[in-house]
Amino acid sequence: MLNNKDLLSINELSENEIISIINNANNYYHDNKIKAKKKVLNNLTQINLFFENSTRTQVSFEIAGTLLGANVVNFPLNNSSQSKGETLLDLAATLNSMNPEILVIRHPNSGAVQLISEKVDCPVVNAGDGNHEHPTQALLDILTIKKRIGRIDNLKIAICGDIAHSRVARSNIFCHKKLGNEIRVIGPKTLIPKDIDKLGVQVFYNMVDGLRDVDVIMVLRLQKERMDGGYFSSEREYFHLYGLDDRKMRYAKPSAIIMHPGPMNRGIEIDGDLADNLDKSVITMQVEAGLAIRMSILELLLKKKIENV
Ligand code: NCD
Repeated sequence: MLNNKDLLSINELSENEIISIINNANNYYHDNKIKAKKKVLNNLTQINLFFENSTRTQVSFEIAGTLLGANVVNFPLNNSSQSKGETLLDLAATLNSMNPEILVIRHPNSGAVQLISEKVDCPVVNAGDGNHEHPTQALLDILTIKKRIGRIDNLKIAICGDIAHSRVARSNIFCHKKLGNEIRVIGPKTLIPKDIDKLGVQVFYNMVDGLRDVDVIMVLRLQKERMDGGYFSSEREYFHLYGLDDRKMRYAKPSAIIMHPGPMNRGIEIDGDLADNLDKSVITMQVEAGLAIRMSILELLLKKKIENV
């Protein structure tokens, strides 16, 4: 059971809640496949509302709800009254009147998902809001680390690249602080927020120093859609300085794993062959863990409802 009505940020979860989400997700792996033994969301309605492009997150929430037996509706925003000028709050009131049991929302503005959650009765899951938070991504990253490394504490973690525009970085920082792990952020000065050390992370501006002895390397995309100017000189130079390749990997622990939330830009933030090297890269495992985590969250947020049915 989770304490809050919604899942809006990692910050609002306790360490115990994080661990129970992970353990519950782990229960969905059967013979190395993800399955639901019981359709616990039978006849409940889940509406997905994606105001920003998404491939893996939206599809994974859709499959997660479907496997659990929910009626999953993808709200068609391109054809909706949003394009006719309806406000977010009017849309929230409309959705609320349809009595869904759960809403999954992605929005380009930080805080917009919370705004909607305050106007609706059902639980809301934040599937990414601006550069604020992406809680389910951080949770699926933890599950992947647990499955691959066998523990989620006592780890050195490096988050590399465009930290400034990344909700994935923020949610992971909050998550790993709660678990007591050492977190480093590595990137050019222009892509690291000035006061990020207040979050309790170490800042490095070069990969050689930052990657030394780490257990986990998280690589981030240059999120150009959120950039309003020149943050780096060229993609070629960026790859040379910050792109993860075999040469830079040598500074991390020999057992270090490589993670990337996707979508990945090969040859910019990561070397394509390295991304495909399954001895080190767990990028496809992350996608699979994402399904289990989203099933776990849908179930835990709807626990009371399920028990009262
Ligand atoms: C991330 C996102 O949308 O924040 N992607 C994802 O959810 N898998 C990262 C990104 O877009 O680079």
